[in-house]
Amino acid sequence: MSHGSAPELGRRSVVVGAAALGAGLAVTGCSVAAPTASTAPAAGPLAPTAEVPVGGATIFPDQGVVVTQAEAGEFAAFSLACPHQGCNVAAVEGAEIICPCHGSRFGLDGGVLTGPATTGLSSVPVAVDGAELTLG
Ligand code: FES
Repeated sequence: MSHGSAPELGRRSVVVGAAALGAGLAVTGCSVAAPTASTAPAAGPLAPTAEVPVGGATIFPDQGVVVTQAEAGEFAAFSLACPHQGCNVAAVEGAEIICPCHGSRFGLDGGVLTGPATTGLSSVPVAVDGAELTLG
């Protein structure tokens, strides 16, 4: 009946530090042909409205923006910088704007359709002056 020598001290919590800090490595592996400092859209004249298809979008890499036209005359502009890790969105398929780095997709309203991005593209002011689009 003397069975009471259970070693309660045997519990060692081996704290394995999260040594895999791979996130600290340079995450600039985007091989997108993007202009330097493209995340700062330039204000000024952009393009004729006709360059942006209704129900689609057009990427303007030199100005660092993507312009959408969800419905006729309804334009919106967004920074190319993907909110996931900062690559530039670089393609449009129908009504989806695509980031080549990890495959995030954004809708014509800039919102996330498919991650890993969890937030949408940053809006950029765009105005329509007759048949011309102007940023800023
Ligand atoms: S940087 Fe765009 S999906 Fe990762």
